Amino acid sequence: MSVIAVVGAQWGDEGKGRVVDYLAADAGLVIRYGGGNNAGHTVVNPHGHFKLHLVPSGIFHPGIRNLLGNGVVINPIALLGEMDGLATAGVDCQNLFIADRAHLVMPWHPLIDQLEERERGAARLGTTSRGIGPAYVDKVARRGLRIVDLLEPEAFRRSVSTALERIRRTVADYYRAGDPGDELAPLIAEATDEAAIVDAYLAAGEQLSSHVVDGQAMVDAALDAGDRILLEGQLGTMRDIDWGVYPFVTSSSPIPGGASLGAGLPAVRIDRVLGVAKAYTTAVGAGPLPTELTDVDGDELRERGVEYGTSTGRPRRCGWYDAVAVRFSVRLAGYSSIALTKLDVLDRFERIRVCVAYRDPQSGRRWETVPASASVYARLEPVYEDLPGWNADTRAARSWPDLPPEAQAYVRRLEALAGVPVSHVSVGPEREQMIVRA
Ligand code: IMP
Repeated sequence: MSVIAVVGAQWGDEGKGRVVDYLAADAGLVIRYGGGNNAGHTVVNPHGHFKLHLVPSGIFHPGIRNLLGNGVVINPIALLGEMDGLATAGVDCQNLFIADRAHLVMPWHPLIDQLEERERGAARLGTTSRGIGPAYVDKVARRGLRIVDLLEPEAFRRSVSTALERIRRTVADYYRAGDPGDELAPLIAEATDEAAIVDAYLAAGEQLSSHVVDGQAMVDAALDAGDRILLEGQLGTMRDIDWGVYPFVTSSSPIPGGASLGAGLPAVRIDRVLGVAKAYTTAVGAGPLPTELTDVDGDELRERGVEYGTSTGRPRRCGWYDAVAVRFSVRLAGYSSIALTKLDVLDRFERIRVCVAYRDPQSGRRWETVPASASVYARLEPVYEDLPGWNADTRAARSWPDLPPEAQAYVRRLEALAGVPVSHVSVGPEREQMIVRA
């Protein structure tokens, strides 16, 4: 029995979903522990090609329980839509469970998300507009609504009414939004329509009620039964609320500390932490990205890697592998090993660059870690080490010796820079395109 946390080691979109899908075969329980439908986990398997936003990536394995943990923020309408899509593809959601303590994303949260971004103007964070930040703000401000509240309709009605009084005042008095000419006017009308919201959410609550559980009790039972538990992270260290490049972060904690809190299991029960890192770097949204490429190499990574946001469709910013960022993540998350994804995307490069440190052009100082200040980070330049490319197709490789020597050398170099072994290498999106080295 073991508890394995699968954690993003970069800016998100590392391929955690495909790694969880791969590892889930012998798991008993898969738990999403943070974030909401800002996530976009791409999973390709014999059932088809899926983009999961909320549902844990273990859903494709019959008999495995999948839990949305208390640390997740849930838009129940979006969740039902995703469950419908899965049902249409023949994927059964009987084994999907929802922790009763998880907070709800209410219709006013995406609205506030957009009003905040509009107010930030040029300094916008580039959020996914799914209301994730505002939902966590309400949680921490102790005025959030939770899944369990959907099961008490009268109290839920009163809470929605109280919340909307505040939202209407905030929208009108603070944001001065909602004039007929305002592009957000339709969204404001929809997000403040009390009767419609209550009806839709209570109806969703009824539909979801058979899936609602005491998450901690479910985790406890799985631990007692000796089941393998997978903790499925969302985003990566560089977007962590505490450790990411603040304020260009999400509002939850993707690292294993967040997994313990957001899944409801003691931190000491986590046996193994698998860090997931892409063989290069991508990010969606704003903020410093030292290795970003805006030239043909960047375009090659984007097109070959199909680097477009799963949730929003935005083109991802692409760049060379940043070993400083991954090492920072290794220290914070304590990876037992790393799963390196999308190695095949580098198949056609003559020369591959790896960022091994940063340099401050103002002071000449060499940085070996990530600075706290986003403005300092924005001016740091990558210090590159160049490695020869392999110019060969790796997508058919199924074992370590199948990889060209240059590709092996690249993986070994990343391993040395991270200070932990690379246990898995993926060379394509299909389940079998995974090389296990351990
Ligand atoms: P939020 O989580 O929607 O508030 O967005 C905060 C930051 O995290 C923005 O830069 C988003 O682009 C980024 N982000 C949120 N979800 C994802 C994801 O699933 N993949 C990659 N980036 C994400």
